[in-house]
Amino acid sequence: MRQSPPPRTYRVKSFGCQMNVYDGERMAELLADRGLSPAPEGQEADLVVLNTCHIREKAAEKVYSDIGRLRKEDGTRPLIAVAGCVAQAEGEEIMARAPAVSLVVGPQAYHRLPEMLDKAARGERATDTDMPADAKFAALPARRKAGPSAFLTVQEGCDKFCTYCVVPYTRGAEISRPFKDLVEEARRLAEAGAREITLLGQNVNAWSGEDAKGRAIGLDGLIRVLAGIPEIARIRYTTSHPNDMSDGLIAAHGEVGKLMPYLHLPVQSGSDRVLKAMNRSHTADSYLALLDRFRAARPDIALSGDFIVGFPGETEAEFEETLQLVDAVRYAAAFSFKYSPRPGTPAARMDNQVPAPVMDERLQRLQAALNRDQFAFNLASVGRSCEVLVERKGKYPGQWLGKSPWLQSVHFEGEAAIGDLVSVELTEAGPNSLHGRPLELAAV
Ligand code: 5AD
Ligand code: SF4
Repeated sequence: MRQSPPPRTYRVKSFGCQMNVYDGERMAELLADRGLSPAPEGQEADLVVLNTCHIREKAAEKVYSDIGRLRKEDGTRPLIAVAGCVAQAEGEEIMARAPAVSLVVGPQAYHRLPEMLDKAARGERATDTDMPADAKFAALPARRKAGPSAFLTVQEGCDKFCTYCVVPYTRGAEISRPFKDLVEEARRLAEAGAREITLLGQNVNAWSGEDAKGRAIGLDGLIRVLAGIPEIARIRYTTSHPNDMSDGLIAAHGEVGKLMPYLHLPVQSGSDRVLKAMNRSHTADSYLALLDRFRAARPDIALSGDFIVGFPGETEAEFEETLQLVDAVRYAAAFSFKYSPRPGTPAARMDNQVPAPVMDERLQRLQAALNRDQFAFNLASVGRSCEVLVERKGKYPGQWLGKSPWLQSVHFEGEAAIGDLVSVELTEAGPNSLHGRPLELAAV
């Protein structure tokens, strides 16, 4: 590889889940710590980090085409680092197939990016897809920048091995970050301007630790402590697995005012046969019973879920059981996907893969039902008063955009600033957002 002058500017492009967004921010902080600056808008950076996602579809192909397109204004290529889950799963192939890539770094190794850059400066290519248990977080610089709504990874990895999913292979075994580090990072984020913190984990509700007095606590205990940080007004968490839900976490929804009335709890399918083949180890009924307990603790809770259509062997009748579950729950929001065979996962080797047109048709029907329910939830919110956390300016002068407690996008016109919690009355609903009117004397 050619030797090149050390990069002065960087850009991190994150794809996929919120944890990747979090990782992308942390990589940016590492690079800034090394003296690099973010590339100006509209200009290609000296160093581009592609922070990739491997969860669905032609993830690797997309990475190769992105690599091919990266060019600086003078026609030369930037230094390219591939990070994230595709790097973890296909690092060697990337190095072999894409000579333009200098660095490949997995999601558990990106704290070593600075040393890898030193290698690149010597003209060497470098790959690091090690999975050191929890060394990464300790090696990252302290948080200094945060928007009003910040992510905080508290748990990573997955031991559930759902048969369709690559995460246990790309993110590794479940680890919980230590309590003390999380409280420290949350405080730093609060000082840096965060008013809302979303606790992240592939199985976030499996988080466990010891509090300051050495007592064993779960996610609910952590939430209660973080709720004690005065600047933090809102707490959320995602993504949970139905089997790790504790009584304490359900109760916290009724007891901790700062814990927002929103639960993202993926179910994937409404058919018990499919759920078993997915190795989900819950049934449609046990899932529904769990949601009832959340509703009892917090009657206005907004529910959200993930769905996969066309899992191998899924019949029309089994798919209809998913529609029935959706009808029973009435989700406020949801994410639905066509099944995508992931290399190395058990489901990819199963017979009876569902033909693409059948998947397309099922996805359309499912999304029509989910959209109907989301719109209905938004319509039912009209007339409610709530606080909106202002995240950015809207499209029009004087307009602001933020989130309701139920994670709906709300726009309103009035006096406000980014980071304010403004009391509004919700006046109009669309399928994807609401309009609000600030209440007098409302700004906090
Ligand atoms: N195919 C389609 N969707 C998938 N998901 C995870 N793996 C796959 C796959 N192989 C979906 C699940 C999960 C969400 C993050 O992505 O619904 O909850
Ligand atoms: Fe994508 Fe999953 Fe990896 Fe997140 S954890 S980046 S969704 S593959």
